[in-house]
Amino acid sequence: MKVLSIYGKFGDSQLLIGEQIGNLKKYLPDRKIIVITDTNLNRLYGNRFSQFPVIVVEAGEKTKTLETLSFIISRLIELGADRHSFLVGIGGGVVCDITGFVASVFMRGIDFGFVSTSLLSQVDASVGGKNGVNFLSYKNIIGTFNQPQFVICDTEMLQTLPPEEIRSGFGEIIKHALIADEELFAEIIDNQQNILAFNQSFFTDLVYRNVQIKATIVNRDEKESGERKKLNFGHTLGHAIEKHSDLSHGEAISIGMMFSAHLSAKKGYISQQDVEKIKMLLNNLGLPTSTNIDRKKLADAITKDKKRNSDFIDFVMIKKIGEAIVERISIDELKTDILNYE
Ligand code: GLY
Repeated sequence: MKVLSIYGKFGDSQLLIGEQIGNLKKYLPDRKIIVITDTNLNRLYGNRFSQFPVIVVEAGEKTKTLETLSFIISRLIELGADRHSFLVGIGGGVVCDITGFVASVFMRGIDFGFVSTSLLSQVDASVGGKNGVNFLSYKNIIGTFNQPQFVICDTEMLQTLPPEEIRSGFGEIIKHALIADEELFAEIIDNQQNILAFNQSFFTDLVYRNVQIKATIVNRDEKESGERKKLNFGHTLGHAIEKHSDLSHGEAISIGMMFSAHLSAKKGYISQQDVEKIKMLLNNLGLPTSTNIDRKKLADAITKDKKRNSDFIDFVMIKKIGEAIVERISIDELKTDILNYE
């Protein structure tokens, strides 16, 4: 196991990569523990946490709503939770997001930790203290910055993930490589056999490298006033695509990253050859790089992006593979680029 830390404004977070769900008890305080999980995780791993009261929510992004928040809070009250209770979210990004949010607001805030079970949540969603829910057609528009006390990234649990979940996780992994680690990009190209064969030690190292990239950025800018914006690479168009399709988060941001790579080339930062290299890697990992969704719908959707700052958006491009740059672009310019994007 390897340990990394995030030093948050309101508390620190221990990131335990390669730790196992079986050791969860080691990290729990001697207080009332309540687990929040989803239907899939409860079916597959429920026997590993059956000693605790469990609140089960439906699996999937549609669960990230205020209605689910109300449901969980009602259950917490029924279970006799108080301000000393400790919540453990066991699941992927959706469970971690909602657990962190409930814990942040229930009784004005109680302690919480995660067992992060999907590749996407281990490398991104469960790390860094962003918690929240969607509202109307706005993604993550209600939420908090609040660090879990611990995040267990049990990489053995990745073995039960369906291939589409592994693919989705690679969307965020390639993002990290593109914005911060040229070597990681090259290593992923060279290790496609290890990826296909799900080599356990390769994946544990991969999760560690990604958590390290994210933790380094979050430690410099927890509340996204500067450097953390780089983590939004591919997400402006990606979120618009998610809104108008059934694609997974990783698939949608894969297309979003291609668009950002295209703009990076248009601005003269990277070459057309780099764009092709990125496209080839994404495609080799089974991720889509284009979409037929009506460009007008996508252009309209970016006006609802929560990262918008009046008429501008801080848009992330890459200066080269492994280095991001954030530029203020007017919403009108971006909409035109989307409308004209092939
Ligand atoms: N997923 C982007 C961030 O945590 O900032």
